[in-house]
Amino acid sequence: MRVLLTGGAGYIGSHTALVLLEQGHDVVVVDDLSNGNRIALDRVEELTGRSVTFVQADLTNTTATRVTLANTNFDAVVHFAGLKAVGESVEQPVRYYRTNLASTLTLLDIMAERQINTLVFSSSATVYGEPQTPLVAETHHTGVGLTNPYGWSKYMNEQIITDAAVARPDMSVVLLRYFNPVGAHPSGRIGEDPAGIPNNLLPFIAQVAVGRRDKLSVFGDDYDTPDGTGVRDYIHVMDLAEGHVAALNYASCGVQTYNLGSGVGTSVLEAVRAFEAVSNRPVPYQISPRRSGDLATVVADPRLAQEKLKWQTTRTFADACRDAWNWQSQNPAGYGETVRVVIGSPAATVERTLDDKAISTR
Ligand code: UD1
Repeated sequence: MRVLLTGGAGYIGSHTALVLLEQGHDVVVVDDLSNGNRIALDRVEELTGRSVTFVQADLTNTTATRVTLANTNFDAVVHFAGLKAVGESVEQPVRYYRTNLASTLTLLDIMAERQINTLVFSSSATVYGEPQTPLVAETHHTGVGLTNPYGWSKYMNEQIITDAAVARPDMSVVLLRYFNPVGAHPSGRIGEDPAGIPNNLLPFIAQVAVGRRDKLSVFGDDYDTPDGTGVRDYIHVMDLAEGHVAALNYASCGVQTYNLGSGVGTSVLEAVRAFEAVSNRPVPYQISPRRSGDLATVVADPRLAQEKLKWQTTRTFADACRDAWNWQSQNPAGYGETVRVVIGSPAATVERTLDDKAISTR
């Protein structure tokens, strides 16, 4: 297959590109690079010895995207592109809805025009709201008690895509509800590179361990969980990437929905200890107030994907910590974010990337 990955230069997209290439598929990436990084794709090419077709485009601009993709062929689409910071989505709801919904609409238009029928969509366990059962199955209600525009945009996208598939019965759609993606490729060459201060737990812990941040704030220790801290289902990004390939292979007419999770819950304090063990570095933390909108426990019932997609997680949380640490310690500033280096007097400041490419002087 020749697969178009929207947002393919991002964290999950780049790992999925790698697995698709390794399994003999061709990969086309469309990304506006607002949060993804071209270097991630260079490294995917280096790791696989295969090339990726890269197209820079903003999917919210339908006309420009149509023109940009006019000469590019593909058989299936995996739609990762979108904004994903929960707190930011509360502050900038219109931007989040515009970006996350308009990109899907563009894609559906282009797929219809070009008679491309297979679509895998990056959804999220956030659509379940507050789970009413210890393990959340796909039959659990969705769209109840969602607390932020990011979550609503995932829910709305699921509805939009489902309606599009009803109107085009040749479409084969798979909605994948991710639990908490973590870890990195075991080479340490690609991994998660959040812009600014990380919102998510594992990148924050990794940055504390490597010395980029002083300490972790544990958001609440009075939840109804074994140690009082929040429990989540962390899934290794390589398992997640393999789940996309399984979904592409299994897609058939209509809409199918699967959880991609491990079925194992890990608390914040367990995560800290696991990371300390693999990194051999201390992860200082303080107990802080609960973060608004957070839930006590969210863990997947992963059985449907195991049964239908013949896919299951094979890596542990400790594996994910080891690989995240390998990535973080080899790339302390991610793909090379700008650091300010003072040379001589404070007035002469050179901004450069960590790999020493001077990009501006003032
Ligand atoms: C969050 C989003 C979810 C999104 C997912 C992407 C919310 C409510 N949910 O999930 O919609 O799909 O990210 O991965 O934001 N924690 C700390 N200190 C920190 C960061 C996190 O204690 O600095 C705790 C949280 O309270 C939570 C756990 O770690 O118990 C995991 O948090 P996080 O990685 O942000 O993921 P979610 O909140 O589960």
